[in-house]
Amino acid sequence: MDKLIKEILSSSNAGVDVKVSGWVRTRRESKEFSFLEINDGSTLSGLQVIAPTTLPNYTDDVARITTGSSVTVEGKLVESPGKGQRYEVQATKISIHGLAPKDYPLQKKRHSFEFLREIAHLRPRTNSIGAVARVRSSLSNAVHSFFTQNGFVYVHTPIITTSDCEGAGSMFRVSTLDPDNPPRKEDGAVDYTKDFFGRQASLTVSGQLEGEAYALALSRIYTFGPTFRAENSNTARHLAEFWMIEPEMAFCRLMQNMDVAEEFVRYLAQYALEHNGEDLQFFNDRIDKSVIATLENIKAQPFERLSYSEAVKILKSNDSKFQYPVSWGADLQSEHERFLTEEVFSKPVIVYDYPKEIKAFYMRLNDDNETVGAMDLLVPRIGELIGGSEREERHEVLSSRMRQSGLNEEEYRWYLDLRRFGSTPHAGFGLGFERLLLLVTGMQNIREVIPFPRFPGNAQF
Ligand code: 4AD
Ligand code: MG
Repeated sequence: MDKLIKEILSSSNAGVDVKVSGWVRTRRESKEFSFLEINDGSTLSGLQVIAPTTLPNYTDDVARITTGSSVTVEGKLVESPGKGQRYEVQATKISIHGLAPKDYPLQKKRHSFEFLREIAHLRPRTNSIGAVARVRSSLSNAVHSFFTQNGFVYVHTPIITTSDCEGAGSMFRVSTLDPDNPPRKEDGAVDYTKDFFGRQASLTVSGQLEGEAYALALSRIYTFGPTFRAENSNTARHLAEFWMIEPEMAFCRLMQNMDVAEEFVRYLAQYALEHNGEDLQFFNDRIDKSVIATLENIKAQPFERLSYSEAVKILKSNDSKFQYPVSWGADLQSEHERFLTEEVFSKPVIVYDYPKEIKAFYMRLNDDNETVGAMDLLVPRIGELIGGSEREERHEVLSSRMRQSGLNEEEYRWYLDLRRFGSTPHAGFGLGFERLLLLVTGMQNIREVIPFPRFPGNAQF
């Protein structure tokens, strides 16, 4: 394959012959030349091409090149006298693959992110969405390298499942029954025994339960895959389809779980600063002036840790600043979470030991009988980035918690088995990958950091 622009800029010297392909961002004409700005997505900065009017196909082809057209250019790489780039290409040959007519939606001007979302098939050709895609890919690598370095096994948990991990009932149903005419039982209810899986199935809200089975065999595992939630949350931080990273560790308690979460987030911040400098600088200049400082801050100092009860005390003494009231027993709202991490501590905060009533059935009951060993990691601008816990490893306690939560024990028999056969303390957490990308890119809306976002009322493309 021919070299990418990124490879040419990093490894070639002035004077060499090059061949570049990409999409034209702009073409300007002077008396003797056309100046083309070409971008191939490999790097933020494109390459400027000087196309002399003496090219044999100048009038027929080059003069017709429009914004959005795809081209291949051959020529010599030379030092650029102009500002803003080190090299440019003196073209000796230009061929056009596809022209883009005047109605190409990405003409050179600022477009709103709302508009770009409607052309999600073209938006990766913009600077910002292209940069998001590169950072997203780079941080996926970071996730795998962090866990591989620390002895974790990557496990692929199922997408289609019959368990509701978070017990929130916000699952998308998976069925092949005819919705207009489903088979029915005598009492009129839909007969799911006739469905594809012989019972009701859904898209997973979390790979954790299955992940626990593998952690209780391989000691340290992680998952990294798509996750689905049918909650009707029309916010800038929720998607109906998002990617989650879920490590699970046997022989691990809540405090060590926090250590891993903290080390992981610090590693990711460091990785982005080291590997994605050009794109981060762009985000810092154009999207959010605090992006790099936030990452440097994450890298530099330990996170704050405080119990839910301590957090509630702090929040109560600032009650007048909030829309939602604060009281012990109520879940923290995003305004409360952001107040803690942005105003009170100015760094990431881990809140732990939440009231059992507001957390999932699998979290380990504390000795006070009121709270569970849960932990949420909160970061500036976003709020909750990570949710995790120590898991209930005591068979009796777990099965009674399941009964209280109204779960069918028979269906979770396999999960209870893990507590019957060689149970151990274990813990883990889930990090929302798109929320991490909000943190690293400074983008305001989560719909900008996943290629084709799914949210209430939208599954286009
Ligand atoms: O806090 P959650 O619901 O925790 C779990 O699912 C656990 N089973 C994880 C575990 O312990 N293995 O979700 C974990 C994280 C959240 O902190 C958030 O970052 C992200 O997943 N998340 C979402 N991201 C985008 N859109 C949504 N609708 C999200 N719901 C959760
Ligand atoms: Mg949570």
